[in-house]
Amino acid sequence: MGAAVQDLPSASSGAAGAARHPIVPRVDLDFGLDGDIPRYWLGGDPFKTRLFDAMSCLFPEGEKYFITCVRDYRDRITDPVLNQEVKDFMRQEGQHGMVHTQFNNRLKAQGVDVERIENQMTRILARLRSILPRTFTLAQTAAAEHMTAIMAHSFFHRRELLEDADPRIRAMYAWHAVEEIEHKAVAFDVLTKVAKASYFTRVIMMLYVSMIFPLHTFLIMRHMFKVDGFSWRQRAGMWLKGLWWLYKPGGLYLPVLPHYAAYFMPGYHPWKAGKMHSYERWVEVFGQTNDPIAAGNALHAAGA
Ligand SMILES: [Fe+2]
Ligand SMILES: [Fe+2]
Repeated sequence: MGAAVQDLPSASSGAAGAARHPIVPRVDLDFGLDGDIPRYWLGGDPFKTRLFDAMSCLFPEGEKYFITCVRDYRDRITDPVLNQEVKDFMRQEGQHGMVHTQFNNRLKAQGVDVERIENQMTRILARLRSILPRTFTLAQTAAAEHMTAIMAHSFFHRRELLEDADPRIRAMYAWHAVEEIEHKAVAFDVLTKVAKASYFTRVIMMLYVSMIFPLHTFLIMRHMFKVDGFSWRQRAGMWLKGLWWLYKPGGLYLPVLPHYAAYFMPGYHPWKAGKMHSYERWVEVFGQTNDPIAAGNALHAAGA
């Protein structure tokens, strides 16, 4: 996400000046997820593979929750454009949940207790909705959408990250990334224009999501490494090496810090930060071929 800062449009362009993408829900995509995909589909590396797999376990319940939290405000939206965007956002997130469920069935077959993970998620999210005002759960959704947009950029910005990935899984993440970019401002717009949430609400829920998202991901990875049968010593080594890979200078996370931190600026809007250069390439190839794997390959080859 080093590109995020240099791609910030001038302040005068504002949110309206940034290039918004149309939100296009795409259905019935076939990623070949029932094929002979290797267990460690990301270059044979258990840590990197399980990082993505753990996030996949969070997506179906998480995205259902995002839809619910945005839907809370649907009746109060008077702007027809935003109303349509909300509809398209919900359709996209619904599709993401379905495809990740398909993928997660592969994880189930490997012995990962996806059901327990999802039940825990459901309980935690229901608890949050029972104790927090709706503005806060919407702010939580907007914060999570910021995180997914950052991931969409960072996973494809540096080609080497997914260079050795199985093209089918990489294509699934490429499609998800493209649609996350398309709808990245929807929850934020409902939060600021309809719910009229305060800066405090927006920021406090971002801090919450920033802690809870990596924590849950790492806990699921811990479970997966046990299922995979790695010894205590092997697991300790994998965590040390993997966390260094994630957090070292120039690693996966530090270069995205400016994009992440932009959310804390009072005048922030999602379309002001980050541009996915290869977005158009995905859309072009998908338009020509209707093949999400070819489009995923093209996105990867172009680099974000
Ligand atoms: Fe999504
Ligand atoms: Fe999303």
